[in-house]
Amino acid sequence: MGKKKTEARVLSQSILAEGIYDMWLETELALEAHPGQFVGVYPTNKATILPRPISICEVDKERSAIRLVYRVVGSGTAEFALYQPGDIIMILGILGNGFPLDAAAGKRAIVMGGGIGVPPLLQTAKELSLQGIDVIATMGYRNNETFLAGDFEKYAKMVIATEDGSVGTKGNVIDALTEQKVEGDVIFACGPMPMLKAIKKYAADKGIKAYISLEERMACGVGACLGCVCKTKDIDEHSKVHNARICTDGPAFDAEDVEI
Ligand code: FES
Repeated sequence: MGKKKTEARVLSQSILAEGIYDMWLETELALEAHPGQFVGVYPTNKATILPRPISICEVDKERSAIRLVYRVVGSGTAEFALYQPGDIIMILGILGNGFPLDAAAGKRAIVMGGGIGVPPLLQTAKELSLQGIDVIATMGYRNNETFLAGDFEKYAKMVIATEDGSVGTKGNVIDALTEQKVEGDVIFACGPMPMLKAIKKYAADKGIKAYISLEERMACGVGACLGCVCKTKDIDEHSKVHNARICTDGPAFDAEDVEI
């Protein structure tokens, strides 16, 4: 399926934590969405013409709806936070490759998220669990605003790390894996770069596969700005260089294939 610019209708909007918003949209794109993919949301403010990339947190195919959980970081996302049920907005999608869930067949999966990297792991955990796979969700937060934790518990055993130690393990997600003796055979992760680097090393040390979403590095999300280029182990067939664009070649990569 190619990407298309299409209308979406706001179904609901709420606040999950400080600066973190939760918006459901009714859109035909819901039928094509795969965990780890994202959409571009167009601000109606005409000064900004490129859409803002926002990962898909959850999909409800029956309602033809997608859930976007996003952090307000600038004028575009500040505008999104004002949308009310019934508003019609323009979105572009479906974008990106998503996680290769087949890699978890017959294995125990660990889904790991940090900060605003937490949301795309929810649909990932949901689909893995529907496939009969045991899932442990290991999520890292700043403090006791552990947004989406209750949603993860429907599909996964939940393990939490907080920077201030108010919930779960004090420290990062790797500290939580160690302290809470989490065992798994494959990792799907999204979050800030230091966390993904630590997960890449952890997986290499354990000899297990890790698929990491580098979406934090995206800007335009549609291949236009080249702000998201990352170094790869292999040479790209077309461009003959050790580069990949996170927004179009990713955002999910086998951790072994990218230099971060
Ligand atoms: Fe702009 Fe990838 S985010 S080219």
